Amino acid sequence: MHIQIKQDEQQTGKAAGILASSFIREAIDRKGSATIILATGSSQFEVLNELTNENGIDWKRVTMFHLDEYIGLPEKHKAGFRKYLKERFVEKVPLLAAVNFINGQAQTKKECDRLSKLIQEFPVDVALVGIGENGHLAFNDPPADFETKQPYIVVDLDQKCRQQQVNEGWFSSIEEVPKQAISMSIQQIMLSKKIICTVPGKRKAEAVKCTVEGTVSNLCPASILQNHPNCYLFIDEDAASLLENKSAKN
Ligand code: GLP
Repeated sequence: MHIQIKQDEQQTGKAAGILASSFIREAIDRKGSATIILATGSSQFEVLNELTNENGIDWKRVTMFHLDEYIGLPEKHKAGFRKYLKERFVEKVPLLAAVNFINGQAQTKKECDRLSKLIQEFPVDVALVGIGENGHLAFNDPPADFETKQPYIVVDLDQKCRQQQVNEGWFSSIEEVPKQAISMSIQQIMLSKKIICTVPGKRKAEAVKCTVEGTVSNLCPASILQNHPNCYLFIDEDAASLLENKSAKN
C-alpha cells in the first residue's frame, strides 16, 4: 500500500483527486477510454471537487460505475448516493461515455444481476473509495464476504455503519437508515487496476490502523487493501494518529 499523510482533510482529498485525474488521463492515452468507480460519503467531497476541476480529461471517453446504494431509499432523499453523485460529479463535468448508477428502488436481484453483467465488460482502471468507521469498504460491513465473485451483492448494514450515517447528518435518526444496500463486492473492488482510498478525520483513526497495520481479516474489511498491488491510501494527520509507523509514510 502506498500511503500519503497530508496535513488536513482538504489537502488529503486534493492529492487523491489529482492522482485520480492523472490515472484517468493515462488510461485514455493508452487505450482510448477509462472506466472509473466512484464512492460517496463525506470523505469524497474534496476528492470529487478536485477531480471535477481538473483540466485535460476527455470525459466522453470515461465510463462511470457506482460503488454502493441504499435499498429502497427514494432517489431524491438527501442521503441518496445517486443524488450525491449527480450533484457532485455528473453535473459538473461534460457528458460521460456512460453513467451506471445503482437503482436502489429496482427489484434487488435483477439490479444486482444487471450491473454485475455490465461491469464484467468494463475492466476498471481506477476505483475511488473511502473506509467507514467500522472498517467497511463500500458497504461491505464486518464480517464482509471476501469470497463472492459476484460483482454487485446485497449486504446488511450494521449498527455502527448506520449510526455513522446519522452522525454525518444524512439521516435524523437511526430508524430512518435503511438496513440493506446494494454494494460492489470486495472481490470486484480488488479487480480494479488502481485503487485510491481517501480517509480523513480522527473518527477514522482506528479503521485506518486496522486497515494498514492489522492482519488481513473480514472483520476489518478494508485490510484486504494490503493485498492490492496498486492501492494508494490518502489520510490526514488525524486519521493517521494511531499508526505506529508514521515517519516512513510522509
Ligand atoms: C459510505 C459509503 C461508501 C464510502 C464509505 C466511506 O458509507 N457507503 O461509498 O466509500 O462508506 O464513507 P464516509 O466517507 O462517509 O465515511
